[in-house]
Amino acid sequence: MNGRVTVFDTTLRDGEQSPGCSMTPVEKVRLARQLDHLGVDVVEAGFPAASPGERESVRAVAAEVSCSVAALCRTREEDIRHAAAALADAARPRIHTFIATSDLHLAHKLRISRDEALRQAVAAVRFALTFFPDVEFSAEDASRSDYGFLRDVVAAVHEAGATTVNVPDTVGYALPEEYGATFSRLARDVPGVTLSAHCHDDLGLAVANSIAAVRNGARQVEVTINGVGERAGNTSLEEFVMALKVRGELLSLATGVKTEEIVRTSHLLSSITGIWPQPNKAVVGRNAFAHEAGIHQHGVLANPLTYEIMTPASVGASESHLVLGKHSGKHAVEARLRGLGLYLSKDEVESVTARVKELADRKKFVWDEDLLTLVSCVPDRRVRLVRYQVLSGNDLMTMATVEVEVDGDRRSGSSTGNGPLDATLKACDAALGLDVELLELTTRAVTGGKDALAEVVVKVRHGEAEATGHAASTDSIEAALKSYLSALGAARTSALEAAAA
Ligand code: KIV
Ligand code: ZN
Repeated sequence: MNGRVTVFDTTLRDGEQSPGCSMTPVEKVRLARQLDHLGVDVVEAGFPAASPGERESVRAVAAEVSCSVAALCRTREEDIRHAAAALADAARPRIHTFIATSDLHLAHKLRISRDEALRQAVAAVRFALTFFPDVEFSAEDASRSDYGFLRDVVAAVHEAGATTVNVPDTVGYALPEEYGATFSRLARDVPGVTLSAHCHDDLGLAVANSIAAVRNGARQVEVTINGVGERAGNTSLEEFVMALKVRGELLSLATGVKTEEIVRTSHLLSSITGIWPQPNKAVVGRNAFAHEAGIHQHGVLANPLTYEIMTPASVGASESHLVLGKHSGKHAVEARLRGLGLYLSKDEVESVTARVKELADRKKFVWDEDLLTLVSCVPDRRVRLVRYQVLSGNDLMTMATVEVEVDGDRRSGSSTGNGPLDATLKACDAALGLDVELLELTTRAVTGGKDALAEVVVKVRHGEAEATGHAASTDSIEAALKSYLSALGAARTSALEAAAA
């Protein structure tokens, strides 16, 4: 191998910027632990200046993991102070400061000159270095910046002491040859600088561009699990890492990622956010190792190399485990959770065990996927479904009644509707006396089988507040109702918090 590439994971920051991917501090810590275990070098935990909740998340992650923890900030002093404070307990803190360098951003977004941007970049790096020795600088929209100016900024922040300089393709515009060429020019023009690639997937080229960057001198790549991220997402960790591994003879570059942990990490992220990669997603999609055509199946049985360029085991993709039943106790549940990379508190294990038993009464087998879903769908106590009834048929007027409990107070409502889902959600609105807009609703069968758990994610708007709910049940209408109520509970809480502020 000719070199080692630093894997900088930004699932908790850029990844969290994808719609529906926001995570609570507890969820961020859970994922950060698994990222650490996966072997990434840096976890970017968030953008502390954004909100108090974000500061709490970064602080919690920083105190938890042993790898480097980065916090993003603009070049403003108060942003840098927030980042430094949130990283105070990190074993290896890194401040990551950025400013745009393209004329488009300078003229229309920041309304400053090139000279001013350069001055702010250098001042921010110097100021960040007064807190910690590890400081990364990013030239936002680098791929659409004038090369001469980009080179001057990279040279100036390197000279000021930035330990890594990131050259992002912020809008996913670059083509691999041109992005690679920018890295080889910068490596030549600014000797000694450690360059980083950060690519977005607007043209589906994020992984290809990241590979072009490392072939031309980049020694850090910024990635996310499942490729989540702003708009079309970021470079997918699993695709980039496996490309380096599978094509090692050509690329001669290594990472510290334990590839056998990849699928587990991907599942953990999906179970937290409720967003699963499409079935044909490379490396981690449900079908990534499925062979449908008879001729392929025959070949794989004779010799897996005929149609497989990597083994399922090399990324930790194995058969589902049959885990638990109604007689399983909390020790069995805890052991299986640990096998899945989940280290929960005693109370959490007890609550999951109770829900495993409930589920085992309704469905024959409880699989790993079911367990992950139960962990991510924590029942909402603020607005609770008591019962519902629905009368429906293809030649009947659908009629639903829903009874709910709001902070201990029971209310019921009825409605007709265009099918059972429409009628029950409208009955819910009637029970609560609320006017709610349903923005999105997705349903997924967690496993195969007619008795499979249905996982429903909904997004609602109530007044100014938008919120996401997430619930699962073997009854898909019940799952939708619970998910809807949990989104309403969250929307109501944020409306109350906004009113109190
Ligand atoms: O895409 C981008 O340019 C970014 C920077 C803030 C690193 O996310
Ligand atoms: Zn980005």
